[in-house]
Amino acid sequence: MDIENLKNIWQKKYADVPLQLQKVKNIKTVATAFNTNVDAVLKIKGESLKKLILDNNIPLSSLDNITLTEMHLPTDVILGIVKCFVRGIAEEWVTEDKSIYDWMAQNLGYDRLQMGGQGGIIANTLALLKINKVIAHTNSHPALQAEQFLDLDNLFAIDENGELAKACEISRDNDIPLIHWIIEFDKGDSFNIDGKEFTCPKSNRFIATYDPLNLNLVIDRNFVSYLNNTQIDYLILSGFHPLLARKNGIELIKNAVPLIKQWQKNNPQMITHLEVASTQDLAVRKAIVEYIAPLMQSAGLNERETIDLLNVCDGKDLAQKIERETTAPNLFDALLYLKQKLDIPRLQLHMFGLYLTLQDARFPFSGVENLRGMLTAAVVSSSKAYNGALEKYQDITLTLDVPPSDIGLGELTSLAQKLNKPELAENGICEFNGMFVSAVPTILVDKPKTLVGMGDTISSISLIAGR
Ligand code: GLC
Repeated sequence: MDIENLKNIWQKKYADVPLQLQKVKNIKTVATAFNTNVDAVLKIKGESLKKLILDNNIPLSSLDNITLTEMHLPTDVILGIVKCFVRGIAEEWVTEDKSIYDWMAQNLGYDRLQMGGQGGIIANTLALLKINKVIAHTNSHPALQAEQFLDLDNLFAIDENGELAKACEISRDNDIPLIHWIIEFDKGDSFNIDGKEFTCPKSNRFIATYDPLNLNLVIDRNFVSYLNNTQIDYLILSGFHPLLARKNGIELIKNAVPLIKQWQKNNPQMITHLEVASTQDLAVRKAIVEYIAPLMQSAGLNERETIDLLNVCDGKDLAQKIERETTAPNLFDALLYLKQKLDIPRLQLHMFGLYLTLQDARFPFSGVENLRGMLTAAVVSSSKAYNGALEKYQDITLTLDVPPSDIGLGELTSLAQKLNKPELAENGICEFNGMFVSAVPTILVDKPKTLVGMGDTISSISLIAGR
């Protein structure tokens, strides 16, 4: 079938989204944990990056093939930006050195502050979708953090007295604000130093994080006991990714296990989802696979995180193959491999242009339901990219009439061919080795106003709207 016909078929499927959005309103309670912070967002132009390099006397030779993954010096921030800019990739580097934070505050500045952290971003989005009650874990909640929460009556966190309260009105004045720098850059932007050209192949972002609380997985015990005494439908977890093994990261992960188990014991019907996120420390990544993944009913990840997980799950060859060719057929193989390794009932990938889920009979919702969840996620997340933020209910469906992308339709078609399942291209679902595969070509926005938090939005909405 040609791509225009396929596009028409898919555009009709997108017409189901308003109904899914109605169903979402029946969900009673969702909790998000653990990481909430404030993001200071800065769009950097090639020329400003060049100025930073020159002003800080960074030698041209150190810009070749940067392998660093965390910051030890203020100038490492610049290396991180260059690394992501020239490869068009997304990375997050962390530091425990406050002088690096101070350097960023003085030398980078920012365009705006917004909600940060998977937990915080997901809480805002799900509350906007009118789920009855959304509870976010915050280990720091001063007024600056509260201001990043949407002013919604269904959005809660724990206040200074340990009680549940409207998140945007809490002011735990003794807490320190946790600000992460999000440095975004645009595809096609470039700069030239001494005749050497640096061009950005894909719009993306670099995150520089100084955050003593989230980096130590500090958990609010009032939140823990609140969840122990409340019926929860979905628990969406993240925040293990910035931990460092040499800073007790493995112990911190192990310590979270009994908490999660207790919450699950109190809520046997609850679906627990892990948003994998960019995890630089290999030992931490392994510990997430070993201790956290087995407790989950669902997990979400992007192309990069898929490669990262393969690298700690004896899947190096597959990882290299995907590094060379980041295609849906190769990523499908990876997902299949990881699903078995992690033994997780539902695993969802969001790649550029396509969302792909593998699930088995243990997951309580069907492949068709999941497909509708992914369609909903594609609309809401592309509306966010288009609009720059989601602040009002009307914002979530701004792209409802935009057709799915050719890139996504192409990836879907080649996946259907590889699996020898022609029905997958038109229906978006098929069975494979006793599992349910669902895939959706997504809506791509030409000039996205924002990209940060996109994966969090996609994963959480696919999950909760898959019904
Ligand atoms: C990471 C960052 C946070 C950002 C989030 C977006 O958690 O630390 O600042 O908001 O990713 O996904």
